[in-house]
Amino acid sequence: MRHGTAHARRPRAMIPTDSLLADFPILDQSIHGQRLVYLDNAATTQKPLAVLFASRHFYEAINSNIHRGTHQLARASTEAYEQARQTVANHLHAATSDEVIFTSGTTASINLVANILALSGRITAGDEVLISTLEHHSNIVPWQMLCQRTGATLKVIPCHDDGSLDQDAFGALLGGRVKILALTWISNAFGTVNPVVEMIRAAKAAGALVVIDAAQSAAHLAIDVQALGADFLAFSGHKLYAPTGIGVLWGRAALLNELPPWQGGGEMIKEVTFEHTRYNDLPFKYEAGTPNIEGAIALAAALDYVNALGIGAIHAHETQLIRAAADALGDIPGIRFYGPEDRSGSLSFAVDGLHHYDIGTLLDQMGVAVRTGHHCCQPLMARFGINGTVRASFALYNTAQDVATLATATRKAVAMLR
Ligand SMILES: Cc1ncc(COP(=O)(O)O)c(C=O)c1O
Repeated sequence: MRHGTAHARRPRAMIPTDSLLADFPILDQSIHGQRLVYLDNAATTQKPLAVLFASRHFYEAINSNIHRGTHQLARASTEAYEQARQTVANHLHAATSDEVIFTSGTTASINLVANILALSGRITAGDEVLISTLEHHSNIVPWQMLCQRTGATLKVIPCHDDGSLDQDAFGALLGGRVKILALTWISNAFGTVNPVVEMIRAAKAAGALVVIDAAQSAAHLAIDVQALGADFLAFSGHKLYAPTGIGVLWGRAALLNELPPWQGGGEMIKEVTFEHTRYNDLPFKYEAGTPNIEGAIALAAALDYVNALGIGAIHAHETQLIRAAADALGDIPGIRFYGPEDRSGSLSFAVDGLHHYDIGTLLDQMGVAVRTGHHCCQPLMARFGINGTVRASFALYNTAQDVATLATATRKAVAMLR
C-alpha cells in the first residue's frame, strides 16, 4: 500500500508543501472562481493519493470479509486488516496490537469506554467523573449518560480567560471521589494544548482511570501511550488524512481483559449456545460485527504517509503557519483570539460586532474554507459568553500563501460587514 509520492521520502525537518500538494488532488480546484484554501482541517482533513489508493486497492483487489474465510481473498483482507492494527499499535507505541480496537471514530471510542465502565460496576453513586470546560460534546455526553446510569456526579475543570485549564482547581477537584478523568489533549475549539502528562500523572495518583480524547492531537503530535500513562485513548482516522468511519480506541490490555464487552454479535464470541456465550479474546472482544476493513487499511496508509514526513516536522510547519496567521490577522480592529498563544492545530477568533457565520460565508465566497459556530463545544462557548467563533485549522499541506489569502479575505469580509 506504499503509493503516493511522500512514501519514497525519508523523514525530514521541513514539509515540502509545494511538492506535497500533488498528493492532494482535491486541493487543486477553484471555489467561486478563487483558489481553494482549505482551513477546516480540525473538522476533517483531505486525503492523500496514498490513502485513496489503499481504499481503492482494497475493493479492487482483496475485498472480502475477514477472519472467517478459508479462501484466498479472505486471507488477504484479514492479513491487511491485522497488519493495519499493527501499524496503529506501532504508531501509538502500544505494548501489543491487542490493545488497538477499531471503531468508527472518536465518538464511538469514547462511548465504548463509557459503556463498559458503566457496565463494569466500578462506578457507583457518589463517585465523580471529571471532564474539562474545553471538551467536545463527544467527551461530555457519554459521561453524562454514564452518570445517569451509575449515580455518579459529573465535575468540570474550569478554564482561565486565555483558554488554558485552571490547574489549581484541577488539583482541588482530585481531592474528591474522582474515578474517571476524561480529558481532551488539544481543544478543537481554541487549540489549547493541555499538559496531559502532568494531569494524567496527578489523576492516576488520585486513583482515577484516565481517558484521553486525542481526536485533535493525533494529526499534530507524536503519541506514545506507554509514556503518556493514560488508560484509554481515542482518535478518528478522518482527522488524520484517513477516511471517515474509522477510528481507534486504545486501552490497556489488563483493563480491557477485565472489563465486560459492550456490543454483542459476530467476531466478539468464541462460542455461542442459546444458554451461554463465551467471549473472544482481545481485541476481537470489542469488535462486534463486520468492521470497516477498508477504513482500517486506509488508516494505516495515512499513518505511513504522516510518519514518512515526520509528525514533528508537520507540527513545526503548522505551528509556524498558526503564528503567522495570528500576526497577519492581529491588527484587524475588534479581532479577539481565543486560546493561549502556544495553540496547536486551530486559530479561533471573533470580530467585535460581527457574526462569525457572516464572516465564514464571505470567506467561502473568496475560496477560503473555515468553520464557524460552537464547534460542538457549547459549554465552552457559554463560559466565554459567545455563541461561536471563526476557526481556521491547519494541516500539513497548508502554505504561507494560504495564510496570506486568509488574512486578505478576512480583512475584506470585515470591511464589507462594517
Ligand atoms: C476534540 C474532539 N473530540 C471528539 C470529536 C469527535 O470526533 P468524531 O466526530 O470523528 O467522532 C472531535 C471532532 O471534531 C473533536 O475535535
